[in-house]
Amino acid sequence: MQRAGALFAGLGMWWWLSWDLVAVCEAAKGRVPRLRLSYKDLLATNRSVLFLGHRGSLDFRSLYLDEYRDRLFIGGKDTLYSLRLDQTNMDVKEIYWPPLPGQKEECFRKGKDLVTECANYIRVLYPLNRTHLLACGTGAFHPVCAFIYVGHRGEHMFSMDPTSVESGRGRCPHEPNRAFASTFFGGDLYTGLTADFLGRDSVIFRTMGHRSSLRTEMDQRLLNAPKFVAAYMIPENDDRDNDKVYFFFTEKAAESDSKGHAIFSRVGRICVNDAGGQRVLVNKWSTFNKARLVCSVPGPDGIDTHFDELEDVFLLRAKDGKNPEVYALFSTISNVFQGFAICVYRMADIWEVFNGPFAHKDGPDHQWAAYEGKVPYPRPGVCPSKTTNQPSRQYSSTKDYPDEVLQFARAHPLMSKSVYPIQRRPVLVKTNLQHRLRQLVVDRVEAEDGHYDVMFIGTEAGSILKVIALQRGNFATVEEVVLEELQVFKVPVPITEMEISVKRQMLYVGSRVGVAQVKLHQCETYGTACAECCLARDPYCAWDGLTCTRYQESGKRRFRRQDIQNGNPMHQCLDQNLTGENR
Ligand SMILES: *[C@@H]1O[C@H](CO)[C@@H](O)[C@H](O)[C@H]1NC(C)=O
Ligand SMILES: *[C@@H]1O[C@H](CO)[C@@H](O)[C@H](O)[C@H]1NC(C)=O
Ligand SMILES: *[C@@H]1O[C@H](CO)[C@@H](O)[C@H](O)[C@H]1NC(C)=O
Repeated sequence: MQRAGALFAGLGMWWWLSWDLVAVCEAAKGRVPRLRLSYKDLLATNRSVLFLGHRGSLDFRSLYLDEYRDRLFIGGKDTLYSLRLDQTNMDVKEIYWPPLPGQKEECFRKGKDLVTECANYIRVLYPLNRTHLLACGTGAFHPVCAFIYVGHRGEHMFSMDPTSVESGRGRCPHEPNRAFASTFFGGDLYTGLTADFLGRDSVIFRTMGHRSSLRTEMDQRLLNAPKFVAAYMIPENDDRDNDKVYFFFTEKAAESDSKGHAIFSRVGRICVNDAGGQRVLVNKWSTFNKARLVCSVPGPDGIDTHFDELEDVFLLRAKDGKNPEVYALFSTISNVFQGFAICVYRMADIWEVFNGPFAHKDGPDHQWAAYEGKVPYPRPGVCPSKTTNQPSRQYSSTKDYPDEVLQFARAHPLMSKSVYPIQRRPVLVKTNLQHRLRQLVVDRVEAEDGHYDVMFIGTEAGSILKVIALQRGNFATVEEVVLEELQVFKVPVPITEMEISVKRQMLYVGSRVGVAQVKLHQCETYGTACAECCLARDPYCAWDGLTCTRYQESGKRRFRRQDIQNGNPMHQCLDQNLTGENR
């Protein structure tokens, strides 16, 4: 374990202490993590528990954290696992699920790699109902889905229903690694993926449930070589008819000046109750719209630096479930400069852009502009609901929408305005890093002076950064505090998935080699003195009079010493045993 600065070692007199404190506070203000914990440190202190698969060849692809059953389901190469989280031994069960006979060989004959591609990589895991999961795998380039019996709460059942095995085309990618996004809602699976062997048919699909199967038309105006990053169902208000599924992705930007080379990040959406058109857009989405997501910082020369490549998205849901905030991790795609930024978007701002003008271009030689003509009714992108279903004009389904509306929708998928983040700037910018940043999870933590959004950022080197961004004064400046750097995996593998359990106060971290369960905090690691605890500036932790421990909102004031904003122990610890040397 390394701490930033050797604190108060051999310290005797008061003036020495004050002098030291100033120096340490200055150091702590840098971007050096307060604590750097190695793989061995994490295991030795029980901060992290690793699962590497039974034969040490997990080849992890997906996970589903089941908070209700206290179980963790993991999808790997040719194998599914079930772990019990309520027991220390985890009681691992597994299902072996290789490709169907002959398909491994066919995959190899078609030129794919036998070891790294021609297997069944399980990439989709969702709860289907109270007793079953839906699981889909790549099936050696023959996507396949099945229902998995997992039993009721308290039981540990785990078996595949062999009669349920069916084609997974459109539900799971063919490839083990290609970017892909999905969400499961109301018995339907929504996917953004390439749905063919060659990886050319980029599409947003709905399949599975009682609603009709729909897809996007094959049209570059809708999706242009997209890389899908995330999908979420986000309700708009209490009217379930207005529920929409949002997709976050990057794609080639037709509207950019740079002759089609630019890549932009997008938020796209569709209505859950879309049924496609009757004569036009039959079995195709009729409510699809998309807008640009901007994340940029102003440069000294007045030219903004844009972070256009989306890496990950985390939906931070509020306690009341309304108006979640969208945390997005971006990178720059320039070769001269590598940078990462985290921007936060309000749903209200996203809705405003979708309610605004459509982007329009009269012809190949014209400029993009806001469409100023008459928009047909019901406005494209509006879901059929009580509002559209009036005695005078009855549109109770998108199948009732006039052809004119569907034609307009098809020709104008892009909104004219872009979505800008809160404060119009990133909450965090990181440049010249040794390792790329890949994954993001955020926890809103209650502390003594309000709440803090603690960001856990997964790197491509098997580590996690735990970071807070403090707003200063007039919000013009942001101070970044790296609380901890945790080397979760022994080898520097990219982290490909992270899930948070606020209930369990745990993070679940997946990489090719395994899955780690990591505690969000372990306050005693910061040290045994009040000053060390205070300098840590970790919103999860406070000095309780004796130790550095989890902050309790309801605890007595004198046991809740924290100074996240300034990390100044002089105010918090004067009456305390500053050094902990006596213990
Ligand atoms: C870690 O957990 C094991 C098993 O639960 C326990 O025996 C050991 O004492 C713990 N180690 C620490 C440092 O807490
Ligand atoms: C869950 O779905 C499976 C597959 O359709 C079905 O066999 C099972 O009875 C369902 N369970 C419940 C509790 O509805
Ligand atoms: C500080 O440490 C001394 C010696 O261990 C102990 O007697 C005293 O009660 C401690 N004071 C506080 C405020 O914890």
